[in-house]
Amino acid sequence: MHTLPELFDVLWQAYVELCPDAAPIHALLAARGETVVNDHIALRTFDDPRIGLDVLAAAFTAQGYEPKQEYRFEDKHLFARHFEHGDAGQPKIFISELCTSAFSDAFQARVRGLVDQLPANIPGRWDLPALGRPWDLSYDEHEALRAESEYAAWLAAVGFRPNHFTISVNALTSFASLSELNEFLEANGFALNASGGKIKGTPEDRLEQSSTLAGEIVVSFSDGPHTIPGCYYEFARRYPDASGRLFSGFVPGSANKIFESTDRC
Ligand code: NI
Repeated sequence: MHTLPELFDVLWQAYVELCPDAAPIHALLAARGETVVNDHIALRTFDDPRIGLDVLAAAFTAQGYEPKQEYRFEDKHLFARHFEHGDAGQPKIFISELCTSAFSDAFQARVRGLVDQLPANIPGRWDLPALGRPWDLSYDEHEALRAESEYAAWLAAVGFRPNHFTISVNALTSFASLSELNEFLEANGFALNASGGKIKGTPEDRLEQSSTLAGEIVVSFSDGPHTIPGCYYEFARRYPDASGRLFSGFVPGSANKIFESTDRC
């Protein structure tokens, strides 16, 4: 039996490998005396029953996480659910899956061809969400997927690993607002996702979010290395609801724009 800290450790290692911004942002905040607290971790998958949202979630439900709210992103053909731990100090887990039936027959066959390559023991592994890419993929196949879905192309190339970690702005002590943090990051040379404005959501939504743009990473495809967008870092500030409790869900309109942090320009 592996522990929750062990799971978070392999997730963080799998993430920082593909997020060039993560370590420098950590270091900058630490230099200001800040302690970084994770608000949530986001993961992606295909809706193939062999590897869908529920299969990925098993690594977390085995550690005491429980399913909470569901979300639908019609224009990107995504379904998502977030999970919370009984210990509210643990990060929330946000898992989305691509509804592949919304795409062309050729696209669906390509995705099936990837999942067909999975070794039988992979879906039940405790560290599945941090395994990386368990299938071979050519750059041409990647581009063919990308013609219909940026999300699918990214997932096919990168595999199972956190798409982003999210710093809780509420837990930072030296920034009065998310915009103050954004200005600090930009002044230090980090590019933010401006799709739908740099800050997604409002205090009325109970959640404000911003994110870096995914840095470029080199991925080896079956026909050699190519550069694609990697992972990104997100920042979330939560507000209390009418009962005084901090809102713990997600705002679909904001998350929809945040998904575009791994699109290629
Ligand atoms: Ni997020």
